[in-house]
Amino acid sequence: MNKTALLLGATGLTGEQCLLGLLASERYSKVTVVVRRPLSLSHPKLHTVLTDFKNITSIQAELKADDVFCCLGTTIAKAGSQEAFRWVDFDIPEQIAERAVAQGAQQFILCSSMGADAGSAIFYSRVKGELEQAVSNMGFKAVHIFRPSILLGDRKEQRTGEAIGRFAAEKLSFLFAGPFKKYAGTPVKVLAKKMIEAAAQNTSGIQIHENDEILAA
Ligand SMILES: NC(=O)c1ccc[n+]([C@@H]2O[C@H](COP(=O)([O-])OP(=O)(O)OC[C@H]3O[C@@H](n4cnc5c(N)ncnc54)[C@H](OP(=O)(O)O)[C@@H]3O)[C@@H](O)[C@H]2O)c1
Repeated sequence: MNKTALLLGATGLTGEQCLLGLLASERYSKVTVVVRRPLSLSHPKLHTVLTDFKNITSIQAELKADDVFCCLGTTIAKAGSQEAFRWVDFDIPEQIAERAVAQGAQQFILCSSMGADAGSAIFYSRVKGELEQAVSNMGFKAVHIFRPSILLGDRKEQRTGEAIGRFAAEKLSFLFAGPFKKYAGTPVKVLAKKMIEAAAQNTSGIQIHENDEILAA
């Protein structure tokens, strides 16, 4: 198929699964990851761009690809401030998306979040919604926005809020029945697979994939 993919967040929980799926996919002949630390993986299709993300212009030429996958993100606690969070969750992906579309990228596949809403009173949801809006208005042929619930996967690092959510999602799964099914935890393997499948559909326009659709067989 000879398509090329650009992946942001390849060292993260969702990004790692996306990376494995992209490398295994026959659709892609080259997968470029933009990361701030090297990966332990090596693969003939893999092209790694190391950066601190502070000068995106300096890596602009490396951002040429057909499909851009974004799994980048942090938490306000980890970033240290709302401003620092916004830099990771909005500024970096927005700047990279702009340069990718300017160089011919056709599709943007975004791992956003349940509740993302540019008009939200909640800062996290607002930033997520603002990025959704920004990439939707950049001129990509297709934008796929995924809105998962709490992510389920083998995370090495401990995050208190997430651990509580994950406990509920995994051990109290009976709570997520009927109308609450859409809040059930989202396995990252399923999410990554759905993101790659969405790109392969070659659709046009903006498609939002809510959690119940991600979890549907
Ligand atoms: N966690 C959840 O339950 C949840 C729920 C819904 C939606 N989401 C969203 O889903 C997306 C993927 O989440 P995830 O949990 O898979 O992500 P993750 O494991 O936290 O990985 C985040 C990725 O972003 C990179 N990153 C973080 N801070 C950075 C910085 N300051 N500069 C450059 N790169 C940075 C990380 O690189 P390093 O490895 O170098 O740190 C990593 O590749 C995120 O946008 C998140 O907001 C998460």
